[in-house]
Amino acid sequence: MKVLVTGVTGYIGSHTAVELLAEGHDLIGIDDFSTSSPKVKHDIERVAGRPFTLLDLDLRNRCEVECLLASGEFDAIIHFAGRKFVGESVAEPMQYYERNLAASVSLAAAAQRHEISHVVFSSSCTVYGQPTQLPVTEETPIAPVSPYGRTKAMTETVLQDLCDATPSASVLALRYFNPIGAHPSALLGEVPSGPPNNLLPYIMQVAKRVRPFLNIYGGDYDTHDGTCIRDYIHVVDLARAHVLALDRAAETTGFEALNLGTGIGSSVLDVLEACEKATGRAIPHQIVDRRPGDAASMFADPSRAQQLLGWKAEANLPEMCLDHWNFERNLDVDALSA
Ligand code: UFG
Repeated sequence: MKVLVTGVTGYIGSHTAVELLAEGHDLIGIDDFSTSSPKVKHDIERVAGRPFTLLDLDLRNRCEVECLLASGEFDAIIHFAGRKFVGESVAEPMQYYERNLAASVSLAAAAQRHEISHVVFSSSCTVYGQPTQLPVTEETPIAPVSPYGRTKAMTETVLQDLCDATPSASVLALRYFNPIGAHPSALLGEVPSGPPNNLLPYIMQVAKRVRPFLNIYGGDYDTHDGTCIRDYIHVVDLARAHVLALDRAAETTGFEALNLGTGIGSSVLDVLEACEKATGRAIPHQIVDRRPGDAASMFADPSRAQQLLGWKAEANLPEMCLDHWNFERNLDVDALSA
């Protein structure tokens, strides 16, 4: 297929681009490089062994999006572009509504006008908010608790309405749990801009001695060791699911949402221990107050993805931590300390 990939140089976009190229798809990637670098193109091509076209395009620019979709003859779109930080979304909600929601609406409208029927959308388990029942299934109520979560839930609704009104359309919304790790080649991974918000990048910077210690947000949750539980999934497992979702989108019509997780919950202390083993280094840490908005425990029931895509996450926590470390250890310290 000829596939438009938005946010192609980002963390999940870049890993998915490798898998798509390896499967023989032709890619046109776009990015505005606000949280990534055009240099990632070279690394994607090096890992995949095939070239693709990369365009500098901000999805908020409707005219450019319209022009691209009018002339591109795309079979499908995989839509990653957007911001992803809960705290930032509370401080700057309009940026999230513009970049995540409004840009997605104009992309979907242009896709409809130009009869691009198949869309795979990068959603998040954040749409479930603070679930009271575990594991989280796709029937768990949608109840986002942040502007970021609401933009993901609203975009899903927009795409569902698009499918309801367009008999030929198919959309798969992939609800990611906590993606970590990096490509085993150590050429692709997540490069946080500024101090990391997420657990793994922060732990790795402590292991590199870029930061002195990890603050663990809360040690008194109702979990086996008092720290929060999440479902960490290897980014390459996640990337593989996109290729299968694209195949399914081409064969079906209508809207489907799928959880992408391992089904296994790990606490912050479990992750810390796995990272100490992977890095061979002690990771200084202290327990501090809870972070507002954190759910105590969150892990997926991924059986629908297994059933519909024939997909299952393969990597375990030690493998995820090792791949993450092998990428991070080579990163330029100056780039991280900003
Ligand atoms: N944590 C720490 N210290 C840190 C960073 C994180 O203790 O410095 C803890 C958090 O409190 C949480 C766990 O590590 O218990 C995971 O935190 P992350 O920030 O890595 O991930 P979240 O589960 O909070 O957020 C992720 C994605 C979001 C998404 C959300 C859905 O990063 O984009 O899942 O719940 F919205």
